[in-house]
Amino acid sequence: MKKVLFIASEAVPFIKTGGLADVVGSLPKYFDKNEFDVRVMLPKYLCIPWQYREKMIYKTHFYIDLAWRKQYVGVFEMEYNGVIFYFIDNEFYFAGPKPYGYIHEDIEKFAFFSKAALSAIPVLGFEPDIIHCHDWQTGLIPVYMKERFQGNEIFRRAKSIMTIHNLKFQGIWNLKKIQDITGLPQYFFTPDKLEAYGDGNYLKGGIVYADMVTTVSQSYAEEIKTPFYGENLDGLMRARSNSLVGIVNGIDYEEYNPETDKRIPHNYNAVTFRKEKYKNKLDLQKELGLEVNKDRMMIGIVSRLTDQKGFDLIAYMMDQMCQDSIQLVVLGTGEPKYENMFRHFAWKYNGKVSANIYYNEDLSHKIYAACDAFLMPSLFEPCGLSQLMSLRYGTDCQGDRRS
Ligand code: ADP
Ligand code: GLC
Repeated sequence: MKKVLFIASEAVPFIKTGGLADVVGSLPKYFDKNEFDVRVMLPKYLCIPWQYREKMIYKTHFYIDLAWRKQYVGVFEMEYNGVIFYFIDNEFYFAGPKPYGYIHEDIEKFAFFSKAALSAIPVLGFEPDIIHCHDWQTGLIPVYMKERFQGNEIFRRAKSIMTIHNLKFQGIWNLKKIQDITGLPQYFFTPDKLEAYGDGNYLKGGIVYADMVTTVSQSYAEEIKTPFYGENLDGLMRARSNSLVGIVNGIDYEEYNPETDKRIPHNYNAVTFRKEKYKNKLDLQKELGLEVNKDRMMIGIVSRLTDQKGFDLIAYMMDQMCQDSIQLVVLGTGEPKYENMFRHFAWKYNGKVSANIYYNEDLSHKIYAACDAFLMPSLFEPCGLSQLMSLRYGTDCQGDRRS
């Protein structure tokens, strides 16, 4: 039996800001339980809904050193859908209203999390063969595994994997500050290790020190070796190309299933979709104050509102698009300029454009089910899950090259 521990900053159903949470939360349950024991370790954020927090069972606690502080580490455990989740508790770091905030705070938060996660492993009664790290928040883990944790047999034996979900986010901060916070010796802060262009860089550390590096599609694995997509690390990606593989993401077919989805008003399947799917459109039109008409072509967007997702292109085309008999339903949060852009068009094309500038899981499912087409004109997309979700609901996809 291979034992695998995922360590990440978010996972459904506990905490989600994007596709990372979908993958970390749903992949473990699809491994063959006779061959793999896959568990997950997360921060115990105070913003995890109480319905989950109240079910977490206290296992133990201890203290670790971080910079000049001694920090409490609580370890909690909970089983969900047959998968064991561990939670690292510390209310100083994990009390905010969202998992991420100011980068300088996050840099310290995830140095703490990485060190605490590794320190917790020997007391779990679960010795992983593979420690699987996701994105920059866990980039220090492969580094620490090869440094101070080498004293422990578990870490000498275990292999590490670093998965890049998005190379744009690297966890970059002042080198001296990172050195103080992480307690790593000077030796680690050279251009072949954690230093990059004068700063400290967590993800770079993870990519340099992990035994294997993966990313979330084969095409992204190729793209990040080029200067255009490489986010200044393309040289490193080329240097590690023997250990770099792209494995395309999937979606959770149970969670995203139009036949059983409790979040949508009218369930349907591949046989009944002609008779049933449009009823979801009529309901959504009513709910959002759009013209109720089954013949209107409804286009959906469910997305983080950042430049990665290509919304500048939409801004440019919006007036032209709205001359046609379409409806556009947007659900997303992010950069104020895109939030305001969609608010503006919802005002200008009242009854035609609906801007829902917030995060809401229920509404996202209703949009996937109701729309005729999904729009995702990303400038780059490591994998993208929204387009796969749309296809699962029989909604056509425009924009993304991978689907
Ligand atoms: P990324 O991880 O780059 O944000 P993905 O397409 O991989 O993009 O995953 C996005 C995930 O986040 C999907 O599950 C999508 O439904 C969800 N999502 C994004 N924005 C919202 C929102 N405002 N409300 C609900 N779900 C959202
Ligand atoms: C990132 C990427 C997205 C990918 C997701 C899950 O957030 O932007 O393309 O689908 O991670 O791997």
